[in-house]
Amino acid sequence: MTLKARSAIGLKSVAISFGHMKNSPYEAVAPTNLDVGEHEFLAIVGPTGCGKSTLLNAVAGLLTPASGLVKIFGKPLKGLNREAGYLFQQDALMPWKTVLENVSIGLEVAGATSSDARRTALEWLERVGLGAFADRFPATLSGGQRKRTGLAQVLIRNPKILLMDEPFGPLDAQTRQIMGDLLLTLWSQYRKAVLFVTHDLDEAISLADRVLIMSAGPRSRIIGDFRVPLARPRDIADIRHDATFNALHREIWEALRDEVMTAYRQTSGAGR
Ligand SMILES: Nc1ncnc2c1ncn2[C@@H]1O[C@H](COP(=O)(O)OP(=O)(O)OP(=O)(O)O)[C@@H](O)[C@H]1O
Ligand SMILES: [Mg+2]
Repeated sequence: MTLKARSAIGLKSVAISFGHMKNSPYEAVAPTNLDVGEHEFLAIVGPTGCGKSTLLNAVAGLLTPASGLVKIFGKPLKGLNREAGYLFQQDALMPWKTVLENVSIGLEVAGATSSDARRTALEWLERVGLGAFADRFPATLSGGQRKRTGLAQVLIRNPKILLMDEPFGPLDAQTRQIMGDLLLTLWSQYRKAVLFVTHDLDEAISLADRVLIMSAGPRSRIIGDFRVPLARPRDIADIRHDATFNALHREIWEALRDEVMTAYRQTSGAGR
């Protein structure tokens, strides 16, 4: 089946600055153009502090660009992006609510009856492998289980766009792989636009259709745009032994390495 892409996210010369002190705004992101197709899984990789979260926040409508236009399905974004679900690096579970309540609340707020919301939430908990944990409280979950809950919490609302900011960052390597496989399984059924920010180049290549590289800030920009020619479905553990994967990894790392070193020198104060 060929999926013809409409643009889900369009950035037209979007630049982002911080601070309103006269003459000295910090120009985090230089004018940037980007299109993400409605079925596309796009990963963004770049050194720490380059503006990845900032870009995601602009797409979420949490911050307004200094200039340029964010378009969502062709329409200029005004205020919060209601088409997007956002999975933050820090999970957003409510500690006083059970796993089931944390997942069902999004539907209840959207107007579903409590029993419908709970039934659908249970289905989602089954899908993320947490059917037996519905009555647990977040404090009793492992990091991976919390992330599964967070994933169910976002996906239950069936957003057309999924924004993920280093969602598996704090997890150990094995759990990250398991979460990556789970995400790909869900995405193969769900097939919506994903903007996935990560530090981890292996993770980016193994998950995405396309990997973008951002340069070190200030005035960060997209300096690389690599299509990932790996067939799906993918097995995250196996794919890392694939020759195409390794060749692409080397190619992208060439582009990324200098930026990582630049960012490191900036924050360590070296080279000034
Ligand atoms: N509210 C803010 N006010 C001022 N500067 C900010 C603000 N938010 C971010 N910045 C700056 O903008 C730059 C980009 O920050 P951002 O959080 O987007 O980086 P990042 O690429 O997500 O980094 P990391 O990989 O470490 O999460 C950084 O230099 C940061 O200090
Ligand atoms: Mg960030």
